[in-house]
Amino acid sequence: MAKIKKNIVAIIQARMGSTRLPGKVLMEICGKPLLWHVVNRVSYSKYISQIVIATSTNPKDDEIEKFAKKYNINIFRGSENDCLDRYYKAAKKYKADVVVRITADCPLICPEIIDKVILEYIKGKFDYVANSIIHTYPNGVDVEVFSFETLKKAWKEAKDPVEREHVTVYIRNSGKFKIKNVFNDKPVNPQGYKWSVDRIEDLEFVREVYKHLYKDNKIFSYDDIMDLLNGYPEIKNINSNSLLDEGYYRSLMGTQTIKPKKIKISNSLKLKRKVSKLIPGCSQTFSKGPTQFFQGVAPVFLEKGKGSHVWDVDGNEYIDYAMALGTIILGHNYPTVTEAVKKILEKGTTFTLPHRLEGDLAEILCEIIPCAEMVRFGKNGSDAISDAVRVARAYTGRDKIACCGYHGWHDWYIATTTRNKGIPEEVKKLTLTFEYNKIETLEKIFEENKNQIACVIMEPVGVEEPKDNFLQKVKELTHKNGAILIFDEVVTGFRFSLGGAQEYFNVIPDLACFGKAMANGYPISAIVGKKEIMKLFEEVFFSFTFGGEIVSIAAAIATIKELKEKKVIEYIWEQGRKLKDGYNLFVKELGLEKYTQCIGYPPRTVITFKDKDGNEDLLLKSLFQQECIKRGILFTGVHNICFSHTNKDIDYTLRVYRTVLEIIKDAIERNKVRELLEGEPVEPVFRRA
Ligand SMILES: Cc1ncc(COP(=O)(O)O)c(C=O)c1O
Repeated sequence: MAKIKKNIVAIIQARMGSTRLPGKVLMEICGKPLLWHVVNRVSYSKYISQIVIATSTNPKDDEIEKFAKKYNINIFRGSENDCLDRYYKAAKKYKADVVVRITADCPLICPEIIDKVILEYIKGKFDYVANSIIHTYPNGVDVEVFSFETLKKAWKEAKDPVEREHVTVYIRNSGKFKIKNVFNDKPVNPQGYKWSVDRIEDLEFVREVYKHLYKDNKIFSYDDIMDLLNGYPEIKNINSNSLLDEGYYRSLMGTQTIKPKKIKISNSLKLKRKVSKLIPGCSQTFSKGPTQFFQGVAPVFLEKGKGSHVWDVDGNEYIDYAMALGTIILGHNYPTVTEAVKKILEKGTTFTLPHRLEGDLAEILCEIIPCAEMVRFGKNGSDAISDAVRVARAYTGRDKIACCGYHGWHDWYIATTTRNKGIPEEVKKLTLTFEYNKIETLEKIFEENKNQIACVIMEPVGVEEPKDNFLQKVKELTHKNGAILIFDEVVTGFRFSLGGAQEYFNVIPDLACFGKAMANGYPISAIVGKKEIMKLFEEVFFSFTFGGEIVSIAAAIATIKELKEKKVIEYIWEQGRKLKDGYNLFVKELGLEKYTQCIGYPPRTVITFKDKDGNEDLLLKSLFQQECIKRGILFTGVHNICFSHTNKDIDYTLRVYRTVLEIIKDAIERNKVRELLEGEPVEPVFRRA
């Protein structure tokens, strides 16, 4: 054992009474109980001094005590539901300086990962170090390391039953401890890697791994497992539908409902009366306007924001999930970005000649975005996209466009929607739309418009997953027909992956447009792409007064630096996954699947509401929004997760969602949705024509 002068005690939490797979910890894998394998693998850690199994005093768990005695393993018995108390007392009895928390459902736990987390803890800067705050390892090799003092403080202070049951929730969420995540050098999306055992299919998966790798009683490594799964992907499919953290969401189902607050919005309403007379629609953006929020309950004007929270003009505080239409990726008034902006303001804002920061940002974008060889900047997503369309027309000498998704306010696109007043008929004829995941709809456009399509422009992904190699097929079809492929990454950019959805799905377009999250709320967009096409901007007119304004450029540079250094993308995937999985589990438990679902990829999910016939139900959405707002959540139907959405925010939001889903269920069953509404329901901005 390496020399560390601390008593490092691994406490393995085990019980027989699992709801989903009772008795799982003693089920057999390659001739030995599952728990034996856990203890055996943990014993290969170089730094752990003692291993203790902590089980409950429930007679059901006598079996675990018998098992421990048979194999000469330390055993501690304590409270069944107050696992925090059980942990604390076990740690005290075995005089732990440092506790390594492992759960008994992890027969693939890896000693080399345990040691990596312990070493990070030993450096001494943190109260709690784990590799599962942000999952970049598969779920099932989770290791948490913390001091006895940290455990003691949590044991004294944590009150909530969920915090008592899940041992480290208080340490992670209360904000009272210095915590650190250990990242995987080769991160994996935990969704496809469920290695802990909750259900029979998880056990089958683990047994299959052992069948291949557990030879001559030797333990196998993390890399051995990954190599196996890369070689035989069908093994992964055995339990690919298993949910992560299910036990935690189930515990939240059992907690008390969240009571509504009395919200006063008189200042908002007064301002609305004044501003509506001065500004048509009372907003500069349709989707921020009063029709999108539940009038009578929702605020109309916000005053300020900090992190993931915002305050309205009446002083009410909310957790924000729309995050200014997805622009705030780090948090409102995020310190390093605000600092960068303050610093540049002292030098000026916009000049008569270009500024060197333009080149700096262009260089950064070319480094991180796969298709980027040259760059131009705009102010809004619409600018970049409309000019991508123009350059595609110039490059191909063709006029028509095929598009899929939403692409902003300019004539060529908005002509395809119902909100198309003021757009000449001739313009409308030039844009043709195709459907996502239906390659035949694009084939038809090319067949019916031979040699006329300049470009295919699409959001690489919305809420629907690309199926059957759809993106690759679009690319091939587009190029076969001599057109340019443009990805609209205004939403996906800086959210799916640092290099956008093109990097995530590994399909590289000719041009791509970015906006929204690029500068954490400052107005800037970019068109990037192949040099050969981008060079045409020397002639194609894309030129406006505030192009090259340096405040937003400085903000973009600071934002991207933070995204890289703090592993923000991994973080927002983790938090988004929790919201989505938790919501959908509550929906399932309450039997509401027909009416509502949280869909989409974790960094940006959408909650849908349908009536019993499957049509969009804005009344149900309004009731949901009304009840969320009364509980301090500014709900618009979209979760644009940002780096400042803390565990505490997510935990509270899930408790509110569960409460509100119960209200929804009751309203549906008693046919009282409309009756419960306290104001004007929300309206759609437009529908696709
Ligand atoms: C996919 C997509 N493209 C383009 C745009 C237009 O961007 P902007 O509103 O910044 O002009 C949006 C705006 O929501 C968008 O969602």
